[in-house]
Amino acid sequence: MNKVKLRFTQKPINSYKGALQIFLVAQSGKSLPKSDQSIRSVVRELAALGDFKGQKDESIILYPDNVKAGKQFSCKRLLLVGIGELKKNISSDKLLETCRSVGGTISQSAKKVKADELLLVLPEFLSDPQHSLAAAVVEGILLGNYKFKNYKQKKTAEDEYAGLKTITIRGKGGGLRRMIGLARIGAEAAMTARDMANEPANRWTPEHFSKFGRELSRTSDLRCTVLGKSQIKKLGMGGIIAVNQGSAIDPRVIILEHRPKNFRTTVLLVGKGITFDSGGVSLKPAAGMEDMKYDMCGGAAVIATMQAVAENKPRVRVVAIVPTTDNMSGSSAVKPGDVITHYNGVTSEVINTDAEGRLILADALAYGIKKYKPDCIVDLATLTGAVIIGLGHHRTGMMSNNDVLAGAMNESGDQTGEKVWRLPLDPEYTEQLKSEVADVKNIGGRPGGSITAGAYLQKFVGSTPWAHLDIAGTAWDYTKKSYVPKGPSGIGVRLLLHFINRCSTLKFGEQKTE
Ligand code: BES
Ligand code: ZN
Ligand code: MN
Repeated sequence: MNKVKLRFTQKPINSYKGALQIFLVAQSGKSLPKSDQSIRSVVRELAALGDFKGQKDESIILYPDNVKAGKQFSCKRLLLVGIGELKKNISSDKLLETCRSVGGTISQSAKKVKADELLLVLPEFLSDPQHSLAAAVVEGILLGNYKFKNYKQKKTAEDEYAGLKTITIRGKGGGLRRMIGLARIGAEAAMTARDMANEPANRWTPEHFSKFGRELSRTSDLRCTVLGKSQIKKLGMGGIIAVNQGSAIDPRVIILEHRPKNFRTTVLLVGKGITFDSGGVSLKPAAGMEDMKYDMCGGAAVIATMQAVAENKPRVRVVAIVPTTDNMSGSSAVKPGDVITHYNGVTSEVINTDAEGRLILADALAYGIKKYKPDCIVDLATLTGAVIIGLGHHRTGMMSNNDVLAGAMNESGDQTGEKVWRLPLDPEYTEQLKSEVADVKNIGGRPGGSITAGAYLQKFVGSTPWAHLDIAGTAWDYTKKSYVPKGPSGIGVRLLLHFINRCSTLKFGEQKTE
């Protein structure tokens, strides 16, 4: 991740001598687009020519010397970016997403001209009392500016562009700084998750997860515990041991805890950390198997969220648990038909070794509940290909045993642009998991494949309010967005942060769907 410096200024608009001066322009019915006073005559020229209307994500780069009204500017380039029409009845989540998208477009334009710094002029019309719209634009710029190093020896010109290094924001007030500061913490954490996911499986192993966790606890107030293979075995986490059996690399369970004084609420986050999923003995087809290096995106999201939690210091306790191993085949690997015993004593018949995520999550969920007695649990996992069939790459699948928690996740999804869609969890789905020889089997057949995976997890959470997020469709190949580059999206981080910041006000009640 390329770390960007944020600066604030109130200097006159024409005093900026840098590479790229950004003005946002809003469409305004049939009349002249809305823009900052200083750029109005330029906008009028462009509107008369029909070259720029202020439509969402429309952009144009101008060179001050070439524009009649441009003489007053001293920057190298002007960038006008459209934000569309700001209708009064537009919902806040749509508006926020527009702002993020505009931010992404700004990053893409900066890349085109290889600018390493820019000045963002915040217009009057974008000032809401909370400054959330301005913060969303900056969030979009930061997320859109993301770039992962590659392992090529010879770099192309495009490789050589190192992205934005400084963003100067023209605007004032402590509230604005605070909101932009929060947006930056969230965006940086999401990019940390992208960084982890981008590393291939030979460069991101369970050991790398634990190194990251340990380092994070060294530089913050977080506590980090790492369970090694012998402890995992001793504790009876049979699912993690079974999935790891075919591997030459030891498993780990990484636990990070944020424990503020006098906390009243505990949130447990659990993330699937399969560093590579070959399917095991139930081997996956070769085509596209390389994408299974991303099977740790749930774990990455949860750990990266803790990075932000360490900075934000919310007043709730947050515990993150990541069970991590790769899933390989071989003479010692777990076999179809094997029966294993989980941390809480529940036995599973392993019908398909490729349904491995639920096996490791089962132990982590049961352990987390026993040890930390959370008020609610959210797990994130690239769990089923079926969720892509159901929801495509546009929404994360959610299953939950609690309507209040599900409602809150839904809202956080809308507000962060990481939308979720709840699927049912009726007892009929659990029926599909009945085994002849064990308490449960690890697959329920093709029908409702994502839901039976959720129903399997439900066996391990009891009545604790819990939401399961199946991010198989959204963790990479996510909906095309200007602020999400190709590859891993970092999905879940900003969603979890939004949720954590409001969860102390929620009353989950004693409700259970089953
Ligand atoms: N990691 C995969 C799910 C996955 C598949 C994520 C494709 C993203 C893209 C998971 O471990 C898996 O293999 N699930 C199986 C379950 C089946 C054996 C019941 C699947 O979805 O095919
Ligand atoms: Zn998997
Ligand atoms: Mn699998």
